[in-house]
Amino acid sequence: MIQQKLDPLFHCIKMAISVVLVTGSEGQLGCALQATFNAPSLLAPLFCSKSMLDITDLNQIESYIQAHRVQYIINCAAYTHVALAEQAADSCFKVNGMAAGHLAALAAKYDIVLFHISTDYVFGSVAEGPFKPNDPTHPLNAYGRSKRAGEQLIAGQATHFYIIRTAWLYGETGHNFFTKMVALAQKGGTIQMVDDQIGSPTYVYDLAKAIWEMMAKIAKNNRSDYPSGIYHYTNEGVASWYDFAYAILTALPNTCTLMPVSSPLGGLKRPSYSVLSKASFREVFQIKIPHWKYSLSICLKNIKPNRLLLKR
Ligand SMILES: NC(=O)c1ccc[n+]([C@@H]2O[C@H](COP(=O)([O-])OP(=O)(O)OC[C@H]3O[C@@H](n4cnc5c(N)ncnc54)[C@H](OP(=O)(O)O)[C@@H]3O)[C@@H](O)[C@H]2O)c1
Repeated sequence: MIQQKLDPLFHCIKMAISVVLVTGSEGQLGCALQATFNAPSLLAPLFCSKSMLDITDLNQIESYIQAHRVQYIINCAAYTHVALAEQAADSCFKVNGMAAGHLAALAAKYDIVLFHISTDYVFGSVAEGPFKPNDPTHPLNAYGRSKRAGEQLIAGQATHFYIIRTAWLYGETGHNFFTKMVALAQKGGTIQMVDDQIGSPTYVYDLAKAIWEMMAKIAKNNRSDYPSGIYHYTNEGVASWYDFAYAILTALPNTCTLMPVSSPLGGLKRPSYSVLSKASFREVFQIKIPHWKYSLSICLKNIKPNRLLLKR
């Protein structure tokens, strides 16, 4: 009797729940999305690593979408070896460009809302102020060009999409600038850091939370209140790599000497200024963005001081 009464209720709940496919789920952002997802929710994420789902395999992706009735995709899968990409531009384009285009085509075919992550590396030259989403792009390297190609393929094919450009992602674990600095702090010695590349350090958990919040708003409200397009999300504030390194090192027990240096001539070209304007993101989604110094203080609190002291 109770079962009979509950069945329609379960059916309604099942109908209201949206399935979210998260690709590249073992990467830095994918892991942060796993860690920040709050259940219970009307969103049901399916986290797929590269070995579970290769985004360059169109048939595999389409079968997965059909089998699981996917309604949202968060594409965290990417070729992110910026330096290696110069010698492997084709492999890089296959993942960051072509596969992003495939996802967009499938999103259009199955009425899926596509979230795709892009980068400040689509910009390259010095600008007057922070770059706005529709400012002209000027990628300087193969990685930047492949990510820009992905953006264009998505904008040309998907019907409902959010391209989120971000920058300088870091967190307590994995391969990123913060963990590198922590390792260097343990070693001691002199650290040279460039002070002529300016951007916005972004705590990966802030970005992950923002993506879940965006999706929850879109799922709950009128989709047309949240226009498709490119949005920028980084932490607030601006820093050079030297400033970022300084802020990390001054908070850790260490004997390092930090020296500001200029970017090496003839090395891999990277944007010298890639601060992104978040005005449209704030206006449309009404989501608060923490300052990078505040988020760094949270990240620093989360690492165990003992781990640092043990190796000294
Ligand atoms: N990290 C940054 O500072 C930064 C800055 C701006 C924008 N972004 C963008 O943010 C997004 C997330 O970056 P992230 O830092 O999380 O990168 P990440 O840690 O390198 O994660 C990317 C993930 O994608 C996987 N992957 C690669 N090729 C794939 C394929 N064909 N199919 C499925 N999965 C595949 C990788 O697996 P394997 O490791 O096994 O190859 C990895 O798990 C990317 O779009 C990146 O371009 C990153």
